[in-house]
Amino acid sequence: MTQFPHTRLRRTRMTAWSRDLHRETSLSPANLIWPLFPTEGHDQEVPVGTMPGVSRLSVDRLAKAAKEAASLGIPAVALFPHTSPARRSEDAKEALNPDNLICRAIRAIKDAAPEVGVLTDVALDLYTSHGHDGLISDSGEILNDATVEMLVGQSLNQARAGCDIIAPSDMMDGRIEAIRAGLEGDGFHNTQIMAYSAKYASAFYGPYRDAVGSGGVLKGDKKTYQMDPANAREALREVAMDIEEGADSVMVKPGMPYLDIIRAIRDAFDVPVFAYQVSGEYAMLEAAIAAGVLDRGKGVLEALMSFRRAGCSGVLTYHAPLAARLMGA
Ligand code: PBG
Repeated sequence: MTQFPHTRLRRTRMTAWSRDLHRETSLSPANLIWPLFPTEGHDQEVPVGTMPGVSRLSVDRLAKAAKEAASLGIPAVALFPHTSPARRSEDAKEALNPDNLICRAIRAIKDAAPEVGVLTDVALDLYTSHGHDGLISDSGEILNDATVEMLVGQSLNQARAGCDIIAPSDMMDGRIEAIRAGLEGDGFHNTQIMAYSAKYASAFYGPYRDAVGSGGVLKGDKKTYQMDPANAREALREVAMDIEEGADSVMVKPGMPYLDIIRAIRDAFDVPVFAYQVSGEYAMLEAAIAAGVLDRGKGVLEALMSFRRAGCSGVLTYHAPLAARLMGA
């Protein structure tokens, strides 16, 4: 016996009130984290050529952006500093400088908008002359354990400047445990760790590398530490390890091409899962909008809703302020 006409799935879709009542997933500004690109100087907004609508901001402008986040109900911002070539080196020692750009940005934001959470990236690519996330041996290997030591120092440097969430994006093994121990040892019991657990060696990071100034200098690729896009089960092992090592939350990156990974993690673990809708995804959406083949408002919100439906607590997205406004903030 066929269910139709007793069952008509269109019945609940007929009116706006009924659609409201039956909606399974919600999206609000509280689900967004806004990535920002600090740059040197004062009163500077330098457009990122590959990311229409996104600019690098000097520290004073970042403070304003943080206030904007607060007024839009966006709970947190994420910082990715553009380090000048002169401050990049083989050993990435600028990462440990207590007065480096990211530390000044953290302090300015905490000053201007203390109610906004500050997440900082931990990886050496922002400071290395070769653009890799770790230190390199003479034979060209990205050194795991020596890099982890640097990452602990980098994390402490950022925690001391007042950052709330340390987000290691380097994909070295064992770094969550080492960073957690470092933070505890220095009294930062309440500094969270959001682990980039399943970070793929992706083609979607191009515009970001342009924004932070590591694209031009990067030699080779990151396949010896970032994950193979063909792998899903391995992502679950990464997450299991990071939870065991002390991560408060985990992240999947990129976002839209990896919704299956988000869902698999959400089903397997009771840990908050975040996604990073990365620069290439932003550029792709903006290119479609510019070409007149995608409606900006509807397209942006539908893409963000997909992350919530897949099981995310929240999303890092360059569309955060636009999305918050579209939601009526
Ligand atoms: C690396 C890092 C990357 C991004 C954030 N941190 C990319 C990379 O591996 O080069 C990408 C973010 C984006 O594309 O928006 N530490």
